[in-house]
Amino acid sequence: MARSLRSAPTLDNRTLPGPSEAGIAPFRDDSTAGFTPVEITIVIPTLNERDNVPILAARLAEALEGIAWEAIFVDDDSRDGTVEAIRALSRASPRIRGLRRVHRRGLAGASLEGMLASSAPFVALIDADLQHDETRLREMLAILRTGDIDVVVASRYLDTPDTGGLTQVRHTGSRTATWLAQRLLKAPLTDPMSGFFAMRREVVDRLAPRLSDQGFKILLDILATSPEPLRLREVPYVFKARLHGESKLDAAIVLEYLGLIVAKLTGDLVSIRFLLFGLVGASGVIVNLLALSLLLDQGVTFSIAQTAAMLIAMTSNYTLNNALTYRDRRRRGWRFVTGLLMFTALCSVGLVGGVGVSTFIYREQPEWWLAGLAGAAVGIMWNYITSTAITWRAR
Ligand code: GDD
Ligand code: MN
Repeated sequence: MARSLRSAPTLDNRTLPGPSEAGIAPFRDDSTAGFTPVEITIVIPTLNERDNVPILAARLAEALEGIAWEAIFVDDDSRDGTVEAIRALSRASPRIRGLRRVHRRGLAGASLEGMLASSAPFVALIDADLQHDETRLREMLAILRTGDIDVVVASRYLDTPDTGGLTQVRHTGSRTATWLAQRLLKAPLTDPMSGFFAMRREVVDRLAPRLSDQGFKILLDILATSPEPLRLREVPYVFKARLHGESKLDAAIVLEYLGLIVAKLTGDLVSIRFLLFGLVGASGVIVNLLALSLLLDQGVTFSIAQTAAMLIAMTSNYTLNNALTYRDRRRRGWRFVTGLLMFTALCSVGLVGGVGVSTFIYREQPEWWLAGLAGAAVGIMWNYITSTAITWRAR
């Protein structure tokens, strides 16, 4: 039976590079005669968006009437029934597909995987929560079709500097982050933080191995990673208030964003994860000193006070790393406890190793700061590597 997707044939098999051209045996399936290849894939990341998903699907169908589109919902194992809602939509329309990810979390990673699942010439990214204006997609596609533009960004700040959907704090934060991005990454966009854009799929395919799967800012990452400047165009839209569910943007994501900027400025020398790990480590030094002085005030003897203070600092480091640095591999329940034991044990080894190295260097070259720095570097590298490979290993 012909699996016909009713739509104006804007593209057909002749206009796309066929498999035979790529040196691969041609493939024909007569049961799909008359089928129009998809021109644009709409990627929709979801995390607990059950009520929004069917509304968005209906709005897309209306907004994209006459266009050969498909949608890929990428869900990070939501607990509210979002996956079931997506499966139901997918059974009702061959245009809609669902990708359920398990053991993974993160908007950027989910978006990237959705885009990589597309074989269409164009892909678009839009939020599931109806805050982005899906009626702009038609114009965004028209711009891409001209062939002169690589990425079309829907901007909140292009015409109206209005952010109706954002609170005052979010508004100021968003403007500051935009300013930073424009300065540091030389991106000539009014809204480089936009989560709503469309682009040539081939560009994502090319950059994918070098894109980060952490954080919220996939567009910024794409722009910063591309070796050649991408041809950009912005179209305005009005960011609406959320109807159902809640925003997942939190302090951790803001930190990740700053991490992304540093990572990109150092040419990916310093990863976001390492930066967060270092930041948490620095906070541990402060916790250690505070606890030590409090305990000494209580009359506790020094060696006991320092041992306790170090345990407190390690526990605080572990908890922060679990919530921030390794939030995508977060340990919960019993695994939280066993992870704490592992972390403490491994960090103690790192401590002994660091002390050993600095003592050795100090003996060879009695320069206290050199020996101290070398010991700290060995300690932090050991802790980072064992944390990433053991305590929070990817499962
Ligand atoms: N799969 C998956 N995994 N989806 C996620 C995750 C995740 O870890 N976190 C969030 N999402 C989904 C949400 O369900 C929603 O569809 C979309 O990603 C955006 O998340 P929100 O939490 O609603 O973000 P926001 O409204 O604060 O910010 C959005 O709009 C801004 C303006 O365009 C984001 O797209 C920002 O990146 C963007 O700057
Ligand atoms: Mn939102």
